[in-house]
Amino acid sequence: MTMGSLSGAKKPFKTVIKANIGDAHAMGQTPITFIRQVIACVTYPDLIKNSDFPADVKQRAKDILKACGGGSVGSYSMSQGIELVRRHVAEYIEKRDGHPARWQDICLSTGASTAIKNVLQMLCNKIDGKPSGVMIPIPQYPLYSASLAEYGLEQVRYYLDEERDWGLDVAELTRALKQADKTCKVRALVVINPGNPTGQVLTRANIEAIVKFAHENGLLLLADEVYQKNVYAPGSEFFSFKKVMREMGEPYSSELELASFMSVSKGYVGECGLRGGWMELVNLQPEVQAQLYKCISAMLCPTTLGQTAVDCVAKEPAQGEESYEVWSREKAAVLASLAERATMIAETFNSMQGFKCNVVQGAMYAFPRIELPEKAIAAAKAEGKAPDVFYAFRLLEETGICIVPGSGFGQRPGTYHFRTTILPQPALLRHMLDSFKTFHQNFTKQYS
Ligand SMILES: Cc1ncc(COP(=O)(O)O)c(C=O)c1O
Repeated sequence: MTMGSLSGAKKPFKTVIKANIGDAHAMGQTPITFIRQVIACVTYPDLIKNSDFPADVKQRAKDILKACGGGSVGSYSMSQGIELVRRHVAEYIEKRDGHPARWQDICLSTGASTAIKNVLQMLCNKIDGKPSGVMIPIPQYPLYSASLAEYGLEQVRYYLDEERDWGLDVAELTRALKQADKTCKVRALVVINPGNPTGQVLTRANIEAIVKFAHENGLLLLADEVYQKNVYAPGSEFFSFKKVMREMGEPYSSELELASFMSVSKGYVGECGLRGGWMELVNLQPEVQAQLYKCISAMLCPTTLGQTAVDCVAKEPAQGEESYEVWSREKAAVLASLAERATMIAETFNSMQGFKCNVVQGAMYAFPRIELPEKAIAAAKAEGKAPDVFYAFRLLEETGICIVPGSGFGQRPGTYHFRTTILPQPALLRHMLDSFKTFHQNFTKQYS
C-alpha cells in the first residue's frame, strides 16, 4: 500500500515505519505461546478439557479461574487485583531481590500507566498554600508531564547527564530541588530505570546516591521499572530500588517511601494491549496506603486478562513443566534479537556524521544527539517549527520513518535529539537505518 495524505499524494516510500512508539507486537514481535494459551483457556474454559494444550497451561488457567468470582474472568476482581496473582507478584519480587515482599503491598493495575497516575494523584493537594511538585527526569516519558498538568502538580525538571550515559547527578537533583522550593512543595522524585527515552541502565552506585537524596529530602520515590527485563549491554545489570534500599540498611530500609511499577507491555512479553501492570508500595503510612486503595477501588478493577498476563510474567513456567522449553526458547529469542538491534542501531548512528548515540544499555529506545546545520535551523524557524521537529517531519516525508523529536521529551536548550525504538524486526531495521543514513547525508548536504 502506498501511504499518502488524505488527498492521495504519492510518497517516495511504500510503508510508514512506526519507530515512534514502544509497541513490540505492532512491529511484528510474536506473542509468547504460554501466555496466550493461558489466556485462551481462562477465556474459553472448554479448552481446559478439550485441547492438547500443555498440562501446566491448563493447571494455571484452572488456578486463575478458581481465584475469580464465579470462576469466570468475566467477573470483577478485587480492586487491587486477584489475590492469587498478587501473591505470585510478591513471590517474583522476593526472588528478584532476595528480600521479602508482602502481597498486600502489591496492587495490580491497568498497565503501569494507571498505577503511576493513581500515585501522582495522591499528591495533588496543596501544602501551606503551595502546589506540590514532582521531580521528573529530562528527557522524560510524557505520561509524567501530562499527568502532572492534569493534577495541577508542578514539574520539577532535573536533567539526565548525557555525557555519563544518561545517569543521574545528585548535584543536578539538588539544584532542581532548591530552585523549585520557591514555587512549590517538592514531594516526590520520579526515576525511570532502565530509561525511556534514553535507554540507560543505572549503576548500583547511582541508585544508592538517589536513595540517599530522596530520603534526606523526605521525597516519595516513584521507581518506574517497567523495562527491568530489558537489559542488553555487557556490564549493565538491573537493580531494583527496593533491593538497593533494603541492602543500604537503616534508616533507608524502613523509612524511604517507595512505589515501584512494572508492566506486561514491555520485557520479552510486549503485551501492550492487554493492559496488565502492578505497583509495589513500600513504607507508605498505612492510612495513606488505605486511602490510595480506596481511591483505586472507585475504578472497580484492572482487566482480568491483563491480570492473567501479569500472573504468567510473575510466575514463569518452571523447569520440568511441560511449557518450559518452548517458553524459555521464545523468551531467549526475543531478548537476544532486541540486544542485537540495540547494538545495530547505536553503531549505525555513531557511524553517521553529526550523530552521537550512547550505548543502548536497556529499554527499547535510542536517543541520539544530532548536530543540525545553521541553515536547517533557519529553515525550521521560517516554517515555525522547532529544528528537531523540522528534521523529524522531513525524515517522515522522505522515507516514511516515524520518530519522535527530542522536544517531545525535553532536552537541554540548544541541543537536538530524537527517539527511535529498536522494535522494527531486524531486516526492517536494517532497511530503516540504510534509508535514514541516505536521508541524513542528503539533508546535511542540502543545508550546509
Ligand atoms: C517508562 C514507561 N513507564 C510506563 C509506561 C506505561 O506502560 P503501560 O503500557 O504498562 O501502561 C511506559 C510505556 O511505554 C513507559 O515507557
